[in-house]
Amino acid sequence: MKKLPLLFENNRNWASQISQSDPEFFSTLAHQQNPEFLWIGCSDSRVPANEIIGLRPGELFVHRNVANLVIHTDMNCLSVLQYAVDILKTKHIIVCGHYGCGGVRAALESRPHGLIDNWLRHIRDLHQRRSVELSRLPTVEERINRLCELNVIEGVTNVGNTTVVQEAWQRGQAVTVHGWIYAISDGLLTDMDVCVSSVADVMKLENM
Ligand code: CO
Repeated sequence: MKKLPLLFENNRNWASQISQSDPEFFSTLAHQQNPEFLWIGCSDSRVPANEIIGLRPGELFVHRNVANLVIHTDMNCLSVLQYAVDILKTKHIIVCGHYGCGGVRAALESRPHGLIDNWLRHIRDLHQRRSVELSRLPTVEERINRLCELNVIEGVTNVGNTTVVQEAWQRGQAVTVHGWIYAISDGLLTDMDVCVSSVADVMKLENM
């Protein structure tokens, strides 16, 4: 049986480095988590949520799926969202896409990719809805990257329209949903300025 010893060695080194700089770190963390942020991002291995925003264990609640989609009936994403908002009282929800997303690219290809095409159908739908805007862009790469941005805006809108976030706002709980995009090519994030923290904000974004 293969047991991936390198990864366990890495793990021991990582744990001992943290323990050396802060001997109480793991024992404190074992008792509670109090993350201020929920990250909804792509599964892409090049977009490691904690690392790119410099947060340590305990500081970021994370949900990742292919192409960082927020779908109204996805119980996995909705459960993460509900737990983050209702139980952990997370104040900020970050929907983070990235340029050159393989999921977005695959959604635009005509060849089949199997089961995942059902998941990526949401991006094809978005592409169809925004086809006039997208067709004005001269290259495929530009169209893919703009679709990555539109997918983030869609994700922010969808988070804002969930019962979880709507009910939080109704009871006066401050929750802000942010839309960010990450560039794998230089490691930098951009805030897309599509932040919503009320029903009115969501309606404005929907009409953009
Ligand atoms: Co991706």
